[in-house]
Amino acid sequence: MKKVIITIDGYSSCGKSTLAKQLAAELDYVYIDSGAMYRAITLYFIQNRVDWNDTDEVNEALGNISLEFVYNPITNVSEMTLNGENVEHMIREMLVAEKVSEVAAIKEVREFAVAQQQQMGKQRGIVMDGRDIGTTVFPHAELKIFMTADTAIRVERRYKELYAKNKNITLHEIKENLELRDYIDTNREISPLRKAEDAIILDNSQLSTDEQLKLVMQWVEDAIMVQS
Ligand code: CDP
Ligand code: CDP
Repeated sequence: MKKVIITIDGYSSCGKSTLAKQLAAELDYVYIDSGAMYRAITLYFIQNRVDWNDTDEVNEALGNISLEFVYNPITNVSEMTLNGENVEHMIREMLVAEKVSEVAAIKEVREFAVAQQQQMGKQRGIVMDGRDIGTTVFPHAELKIFMTADTAIRVERRYKELYAKNKNITLHEIKENLELRDYIDTNREISPLRKAEDAIILDNSQLSTDEQLKLVMQWVEDAIMVQS
């Protein structure tokens, strides 16, 4: 069967990576979490006190960053490594979440990440989620999905995830972070979060993960059929 490229863009915490992982497992495709790359770059900038308002410092720092996804057979997912260190857990912490949208708005950072993402898609058979995947990274992808869900539901979903690891986290803190990131991501100059013209909207506010998979698998079959 012909392998295609599937892109999933949308707001924070609406279930993009959950759907992307489901599809990759179902189709035996590679899943790439593009947000993890921006989070890892942000972690490096924080750890190394890089002044990201200074272009020279940014360029020098990017020259020292090596990002790689390494498959973990226990979780069945590829995990983010930064210069050889597994940073999968660290990049999900609030410290990174608070700064990532600022860092991801920088032109040099985007060029660095997008070039690597496009390289990963060369073999096709890939599901990539993020903010600009259908518009900038793979504008010719065969299936583009734009995901959304009610803000209160998204906040609740992210809260459940983070509270399991950190009992000090509050709903208010998460709501503020999601809304701020959505604002910066939608309003930045370079590759803002937008629905690609040919993307299908998926509002999963009232859908279970099984229901959303069933629905989207039908779209995938249609997309593959058109190509064959
Ligand atoms: O998991 P969540 O939806 O909260 O975020 P993420 O996908 O891990 O992405 C973290 C941040 O990286 C986003 O808020 C964006 O600022 C940035 N990002 C981006 O600019 N472009 C992408 N393709 C993916 C993420
Ligand atoms: O990748 P993104 O930030 O868009 O969201 P996610 O990490 O995939 O999903 C956030 C949470 O929402 C996860 O705990 C999912 O299990 C949950 N979710 C859900 O409850 N119902 C859905 N239809 C989709 C996701």
